[in-house]
Amino acid sequence: MSDYPEFEHDVLVIGAGGAGLRAAIEAAAQGVRVGLVCKSLLGKAHTVMAEGGMAAAMGNVDDRDGWRTHFADTMRGGQYLNSWRMAELHAKESPERARELESWGALFDRTPEGRILQRNFGGHKYPRLAHVGDRTGLEMIRTLQDHGIHQGIDVHMEVTVTRLLKDGDRCVGAFGYDREQGRFRVFKAKAVVLSTGGLGRAYLVTSNSWEGTGDGHSLAYHAGAELRDMEFIQFHPTGMIWPPSVRGILVTEGVRGEGGILKNNKGDRFMFRDIPPLYVEQTADTPEEGWRYVTGDREARRPPELLTRDHVARKIVKEVQEGRGSPHGGAFLDIAWIKERIKDSEAHIKKKLPSMYHQFKELAGIDITKEPMEVGPTTHYAMGGVAVDPDTQMSTTVPGLFAAGEVAGGLHGANRLGGNSLSDLVVFGKRAGEHAAKFARDNPQYAISEPEIEAAAGEALAPLERGVSQVGPFQLQFELQTMMQDQVGIARDEGLLTKALDGIRRIRDAVSEVGAGGNRWYNPGWHTALDMKHLLTVSEAIALSARERKESRGAHSRLDHPDKDAKWSTFNMIVRKGPEGGMVIERRDIPPLPQELADIIEEEG
Ligand code: FUM
Repeated sequence: MSDYPEFEHDVLVIGAGGAGLRAAIEAAAQGVRVGLVCKSLLGKAHTVMAEGGMAAAMGNVDDRDGWRTHFADTMRGGQYLNSWRMAELHAKESPERARELESWGALFDRTPEGRILQRNFGGHKYPRLAHVGDRTGLEMIRTLQDHGIHQGIDVHMEVTVTRLLKDGDRCVGAFGYDREQGRFRVFKAKAVVLSTGGLGRAYLVTSNSWEGTGDGHSLAYHAGAELRDMEFIQFHPTGMIWPPSVRGILVTEGVRGEGGILKNNKGDRFMFRDIPPLYVEQTADTPEEGWRYVTGDREARRPPELLTRDHVARKIVKEVQEGRGSPHGGAFLDIAWIKERIKDSEAHIKKKLPSMYHQFKELAGIDITKEPMEVGPTTHYAMGGVAVDPDTQMSTTVPGLFAAGEVAGGLHGANRLGGNSLSDLVVFGKRAGEHAAKFARDNPQYAISEPEIEAAAGEALAPLERGVSQVGPFQLQFELQTMMQDQVGIARDEGLLTKALDGIRRIRDAVSEVGAGGNRWYNPGWHTALDMKHLLTVSEAIALSARERKESRGAHSRLDHPDKDAKWSTFNMIVRKGPEGGMVIERRDIPPLPQELADIIEEEG
């Protein structure tokens, strides 16, 4: 046996944001032994960046809302590439998950009648986002953490997993190291849940913090899992753009949900130009009216700033490209104007958007109750991820491996609606935990391979053994991020994507020779050298899938194929590791939509 410390659990959960915590809680509730690995400290997760709320059709503010409308909105937002079964489960189960959070102590904002308050968000027909000011993700993490610590879960903090362990096809654990001293650790498990979040750090401008390096996507891929829909990267329209040190930090859609409007440098509310016909029966005449979101006898009015994120982000970029951008290359987001409508607007803004108020005051010297913010698109979310069975969340190809939250693909299709992420985490985190526990109970026997552990250790040590190289890990990371930003960003074409794929191959060659210098203790250069494998894997998956999809749909926008094309609407893009070790891509037909769900989409518009 290896000399490395070993930890044995029935279910190992890798990633401790909303999905991981909810999965761990559920697995523990099923009576199995659970280990929870956090790359950072417990409680520090990208979940907190879903600030504006959790989408759940409770109908507290508009009683016309219900799961059917939420389902139809999610499918429309995802441009019908979603896993319809996941969209159905999500719409049906999110209200129960919201009430469960409340019963565990989450302090949602309230309606005057004392119900959970819900706000407007892009692409949602009715006010649907249960929220806690603009700190909803934070409150969710706090609640799940407080609840989880009483469930007997073993927590391993500041541990990075570098490889999943296999017994034949089955996933049976993970190999990793602690970030403080670089000591290796072996985790044995009957089932593994990946809940590692996203991959925003593959780009230069992102709302993701340092942990978001696509670890789970890459670990799953190298263990034999399929990844789907990787071409769809969400560029949230509103990130901070000034000063440079804060570029990319999220400015919640909650600002627009509370009435914030977007203007260009001419003071023009440009979102009123080119509202896509998909959303309107009749375009509004005046900004005050917003556009009409009408189906049958149902009508809701929305400001155009609450169109889906892909659309708003592209419109901001267009203003900048045509010379109407803000001084630092974005647009103006103004919430202060609501003083014309609301008596004590300053107190109202501070109450509804406390984090935004402090964020701009402290980081940019801007008082958002009086002045507009400068904002621009930031890489926020990966719609693509591990291909899973919609009901159980188990990988389609690796038994014993489950995925939930951002690392799992399917729910959001070509574009996620804001707020659908927090509900995704708890709906599918619960399902993954439940089915992983069941799998562990039903499949108790497994073996761990010593040579596989030694191979994982060798791979992890390689950058240290090479000493200091001329080109270091940070330089390679920066090169990759710059290239992804410029060539695989909001606007793509065949030439740029081919160039990016060549660049990825070149950087991968350089990484195979990169040295980290120093030793295993507190060595960020070493950590970055190891992260590069994941960053390169997800970058290749994104660029390859984006080159293959020769149309524009949702978050994927091709300058050389600017229109949506019906012939690309019937399949998902799948990538997996081929027999020669390289990445292969395949178009996979979307399973037929059951008639009752097709009818709902038809009825709800
Ligand atoms: O804008 C936001 O508050 C982000 C929410 C989300 O990504 O779901």
